[in-house]
Amino acid sequence: MTKPLIVPPEKLTLEASDWLARELQKALATKQRVSLALSGGNTPRPAYRALAEHTLPWERVDVYFVDERFVPPDHADSNYKLVKESLLTPLKLSDAQVFRMQGEREDRDDAAADYAKTLPERLDVVLIGVGEDGHTASLFPGHPALSERTARVLAVKQTSKPPPWRMTLTFPVLQGAGAVLGLVAGEGKRDAMRRVLQGDMQLPASHVTNTQWMLDPAAYG
Ligand code: 6PG
Repeated sequence: MTKPLIVPPEKLTLEASDWLARELQKALATKQRVSLALSGGNTPRPAYRALAEHTLPWERVDVYFVDERFVPPDHADSNYKLVKESLLTPLKLSDAQVFRMQGEREDRDDAAADYAKTLPERLDVVLIGVGEDGHTASLFPGHPALSERTARVLAVKQTSKPPPWRMTLTFPVLQGAGAVLGLVAGEGKRDAMRRVLQGDMQLPASHVTNTQWMLDPAAYG
C-alpha cells in the first residue's frame, strides 16, 4: 500500500483536485478518451468544484459513478445531483459523456446490469471515500456484495447509511482501476482509517488496495 498523503485541511481540496487532474492528464497522454468515476458523500464536493477549475481537454473525459442511491437524479440524496452541481454543470459536459447510474428505476437489478454494460474495461481515475464504519462505495461491512467477483455492478440493500437501496461498483472494478484516490477527512474517520491503513480486511475500504489515501491530520490520528 502506498504511503498515505497527509494534507492540512485548508489544502486538502486543492491537493485532491490537483491529484485527480494529474492522473487524468497522464491517462489522456496515452489514449483519446479517458474515464473518471466519482463517489458521493460530503467530503469530495469541494474537490469536484476545484477540479472543474482545471484546464483539461474535458471533451475527452467520460464521467461515471462509483455508486448511487436508488433515488431520482434530482433528489437531495442523489450522487448524480451532487456531481452535476459541483462538476458537470460548471464544465458544461455533454450528457453523451456522462454515464449516470439510473437510481430512479424500480428494476434495480436490471438497472445495475445495464450500468455494467456502459463501463469501460478499465476505469482510469476513481475517487472513493470511506464511511465511519469503513465502507467504501456502497460496499458495507458484512454485506454479501463484498464477495462478488463476477458482476461489475450490483444493487444492494444496506441499513448502515440511508437511503437503504444503492447501486455500486464491485471490488473487481475498483481494484482494476488505473488510479484510485481515497479522500478522507475528519476525526470521525480516524478509527476506520487506522484500521484500513493497517490492512484490516474486516473493513471494505481495505480491499481497494490500489488506493492512494489522502487524509487530513484529523482522519489520520
Ligand atoms: C455514498 C458514498 C460513500 C461515501 C462515504 C463517505 O454514496 O455515500 O459513495 O461511499 O464516500 O459514505 O461519505 P462522506 O464523505 O459524506 O463522509
